[in-house]
Amino acid sequence: MKKDDLVVLTKMEHHSNIVPWQLVAQKTHAKVKYVDLDEDGILNMVEFERAMNDSPKLVAFTHCSNVLGTINDAAMLVRKARKAGATTLVDAAQSVPHMPVDVSQIGCDFLAFSGHKMLGPTGIGVLYGRKALLEDMEPFQGGGDMIKEVHLTGAKWNDVPYKFEAGTTNFADAVGLGVAIDYLSSVGMQKVRDHEVELLKYATEETEKVGGLTIYGPRDAARRGGVLSFNVEGIHPHDMASILDEEGVAIRSGHHCAQPLMERLDVTATNRASFYLYNSYDDVDALVGGLKKAKRMFEA
Ligand SMILES: Cc1ncc(COP(=O)(O)O)c(C=O)c1O
Repeated sequence: MKKDDLVVLTKMEHHSNIVPWQLVAQKTHAKVKYVDLDEDGILNMVEFERAMNDSPKLVAFTHCSNVLGTINDAAMLVRKARKAGATTLVDAAQSVPHMPVDVSQIGCDFLAFSGHKMLGPTGIGVLYGRKALLEDMEPFQGGGDMIKEVHLTGAKWNDVPYKFEAGTTNFADAVGLGVAIDYLSSVGMQKVRDHEVELLKYATEETEKVGGLTIYGPRDAARRGGVLSFNVEGIHPHDMASILDEEGVAIRSGHHCAQPLMERLDVTATNRASFYLYNSYDDVDALVGGLKKAKRMFEA
């Protein structure tokens, strides 16, 4: 990356797909541009196409928004970005744990996901990279194992992936993540996805009946991952989360590490209920019961 090179992101990114590029831009004087969303939380393709006309060096976007649930058509975005000459990176932290994802079908250069969002340990994840690019890249860290030879005057790097694995790696957590992946694969990722779609549809219908809710993101469950972000008129998300907690329902409230998206939605925070393979219809009923209780408390 060098001065005036362009990085294209979207306004639905988690901070972890914004801040690293801002750091790169600070260092290199590259520019960062953000593609806007439509009102239903879907990427504005007119803006995306326009950004591609600016010959970006890198296009990085989330496969599935951790706030809106929006599932981006990663293969289509990658195709357009590569045609514009860009390197592509997909943040799959919210897709790989929840649905079948095929890197070769997406065709991206890089794709990343985290262990702790898929029943695995914290502090470990996966970065996929196209081999030719990885071979071209310099190591980001020095130490044992990432070298083939070291002399007093210099060193020769090891092959990929060892070139990027300096020192003693966190292999204990890699074993844990491997077990989590085996477990999810044995259940079947399509089954995980189907289950979440069913719960999401039910939760959307039932929570809307409570009244006074604003739900963020696409209305079509097929275009949405298993998260339901909402606000309830007159009740701050932190109050809502505390009340639901007393009912044994754990949701997340706050900016969800997506403050630019909060600004775009013109809110400071949302409530977010998230579904996974261990959730049931009863859990949705408990959520709805908690919402009704919160409303009664605030109306009293
Ligand atoms: C969409 C998305 N990207 C990236 C991340 C960051 O993951 P981690 O905290 O493991 O770096 C998260 C979760 O926090 C996420 O939801």
